[in-house]
Amino acid sequence: MTGFAVAVWVDGHLSMLDQRVLPHEVISRNYYSAEETAQGIKDMVVRGAPAIGCAAAFGVAVEAFRIAKQGVPASWPAAMAPGLKLLEESRPTAVNLRWALERMRPLLTTTPPEEVPQRLLDEAQAILREDHEACMQIGRHGARVLPDTGERPITIMTHCNAGALATGGVYGTALGVVRGAVDLGRKVRVIACETRPFLQGARLTAWELLQDGIATTLITDNMAAHLMSRGVIDCVIVGSDRVAANGDAANKIGTLGHAICARRYDIPFLVAAPISTIDLQAADGSHIPIEERPASEVTHLGGKRIAAPDVAVHNPAFDVTPAELITWFVSEKGVIAEPTREKISALISS
Ligand code: MRU
Repeated sequence: MTGFAVAVWVDGHLSMLDQRVLPHEVISRNYYSAEETAQGIKDMVVRGAPAIGCAAAFGVAVEAFRIAKQGVPASWPAAMAPGLKLLEESRPTAVNLRWALERMRPLLTTTPPEEVPQRLLDEAQAILREDHEACMQIGRHGARVLPDTGERPITIMTHCNAGALATGGVYGTALGVVRGAVDLGRKVRVIACETRPFLQGARLTAWELLQDGIATTLITDNMAAHLMSRGVIDCVIVGSDRVAANGDAANKIGTLGHAICARRYDIPFLVAAPISTIDLQAADGSHIPIEERPASEVTHLGGKRIAAPDVAVHNPAFDVTPAELITWFVSEKGVIAEPTREKISALISS
C-alpha cells in the first residue's frame, strides 16, 4: 500500500505534500508557523477533513516551537491565541479542524511551560497515529457491509477524495473501505467522479488508487446518474467533513445528488468517517457551515478562464446529505444502518 506524507513532522517543522499540483508534480512544502500552516490549509495544499485536523495539530506544535525560540512566554495561551485563531478560521466546514485544536488547547495550561512545544508535538503525532488506526478500522468495518456480488467484481462509485490523501496518508475513509474490500480478497472496480470544480476525483482519487493497482474508471460528475440508472454501480461510498448529531452528513458538493439518485435506484449509499467528524453541537445538517470558495475555481480550469466574462458565480464547496438517504454510516467503532440521533449517540459512547 502506498503511503503519502500528507502532513508530517520533518527536521523541526511541518511538511505537507502539495495536493494542488498532484498528480503532475509530487512536491512537499515546509511550514514554520501557525500563520503559514493556516494559509496552506486555506489554499488547499492539504485538504480532506482528517488531514486538515492533522495539519492543524502540527501547525499548533510548529507555532509553539517558533515562539519558544524567543524564550518561554509568560502565558502560553496568550502567546498562542493569534495562531490558534488563524488555524481555526482557515476552513469552516471540516469539524476535524476544530476537534484537533480543542485537543491541543488544554495542553497549553496543563503542561510545565518549558515542555509545551514538545508536548504539543507529541499530541499531534498521536492524532496522526490514531487517524491511521481509525482508517484501518473503518476499512475493516465497511468492507463487511458491502453488497455481495458473488464472483462478479464489485463496482463502487466515490466522489471527491476520501482516501489516504484526505487523511493521515495511508488508508483513507471511503477509500479505506475500498482497500478493506481488496484486503478481503474481493475484486473491486472504482468509479471515480471527477468532482468539479477542484477535481479531487480526477487528480487525487484516480492517482492514489492506481498507485495501489486498484482498477479505476474516471467519469465526470454528470455521468453518475446515467450509470446508476443502468445498474453499473453496486454501491456508493463517500467520506464526510462533518456529521451532525442526527446523522446528516456534509461532504463535497455533488454528494447530495448522488445520494438522491442512489436511493432512486436502490443502491446502498455509505458514509465513512471517523468519530472525530461527528459534531454533536450541530443538531442537524442545517447547522453545518458551508464554505463558499473563490469564484475563480468555477470560472477557470487549469489556470485558463473558461467562463463568460463578468458572469456571477456561486461556489459552495459542500452539501449536506440527509441521514434518511444514508444506508450505512461506517466509523472506526463499527457501522450503523440508517443513522439516527439515537444510533449516533450510542455509537459514540460504545
Ligand atoms: O474541499 P476538500 O477537498 O477538503 O473536501 C474533501 C471532502 O469533501 C472529503 O470527502 C471529506 O473531507 C472526507 S475526507 C476523508
